[in-house]
Amino acid sequence: MIPKIALLACQGTISGSGSAPGRRPDAYLHDHQLAGLRAGLQGAAEVVELDWRAPLDVIRAFPLVLIGSPWDYTGAKEEFLAVLAAIEAAGCILCNPLEVVRWNADKLYLRELAEKGVPSIPTLWSETPAARDINQAFDHFGCDRVVAKRRVGAGAEGQVSFTRGDPAIAAWRMDQPAMIQPFLPAIASEGELSFVFIDGAFTHALIKRAKPGDYRIQSVYGGTETPITPTASDLAAAQRVMAALPFAQPPLYARIDMLRLPEGQLALIEAELIEPYLYPPPGDDFARVMAQAVLRRLTWHTSRRT
Ligand SMILES: Nc1ncnc2c1ncn2[C@@H]1O[C@H](COP(=O)(O)OP(=O)(O)O)[C@@H](O)[C@H]1O
Ligand SMILES: [Mg+2]
Repeated sequence: MIPKIALLACQGTISGSGSAPGRRPDAYLHDHQLAGLRAGLQGAAEVVELDWRAPLDVIRAFPLVLIGSPWDYTGAKEEFLAVLAAIEAAGCILCNPLEVVRWNADKLYLRELAEKGVPSIPTLWSETPAARDINQAFDHFGCDRVVAKRRVGAGAEGQVSFTRGDPAIAAWRMDQPAMIQPFLPAIASEGELSFVFIDGAFTHALIKRAKPGDYRIQSVYGGTETPITPTASDLAAAQRVMAALPFAQPPLYARIDMLRLPEGQLALIEAELIEPYLYPPPGDDFARVMAQAVLRRLTWHTSRRT
């Protein structure tokens, strides 16, 4: 009998929900990633989708639990972390591990990486974000447009961008800690670059562009992506981020998202180590690399038990 591994999803993405009302418009990304995983693991392991809110005993019955598309966790971070902790405590291999998820779930990690010398976007942090922070940010950065985002967030949810003098600034506040950055025009001229690493090794890169009139590159806002072969210096910038991650082992999967600073250098926008869409390229290569990384960890599980 081949081993079964669990892929954590959420109500909005799990394919059992089909085209049911309430399925997220980006759930097809989950389907695509799942299909690639199944193709890579065919004959070696079976992949079972599970809602991360499924009964713990159901999840913990799997030797290995991959975090797939629990994309609603940002509204329930502590609950999500508690589920992951219980999965690990039961002796399951969690990918990525709780230690990685916990660190990555609060974007304050960006400050830690910046302090380590990782090229970063200048950022102001606010516990009680309101209009004064936006107005200060224009002066602090010497710019006319800023972006404010949640410290615990994904998919650009709750994010705003203001230009100096916008009357809407006065009434703005956020009910949770935020980060404010200068708006980098490279998002429109070039796009956001993503570099995917499996077990620390670079696999592929792409550039993501927003639809005209928007600056958010996510597919739900009409963003599109194109595979690229990165220049040696751009790839080196992403590798520098990987090298600065504070873990003994590189995570199974990592997506390093970068945006170009006006000086020409790529800066980290975020390191996606929890539930990234990995933009699996066509063909077997990526599926094989991903499957090998999963199977290697399944072996650790077996050897831990014997
Ligand atoms: N400083 C910035 N300048 C320009 N665009 C930005 C900036 N920060 C974020 N964006 C845009 O907003 C999107 C979401 O921001 P991001 O930091 O990736 O948060 P998340 O994906 O976790 O919601 C990015 O993909 C990009 O399109
Ligand atoms: Mg992002």
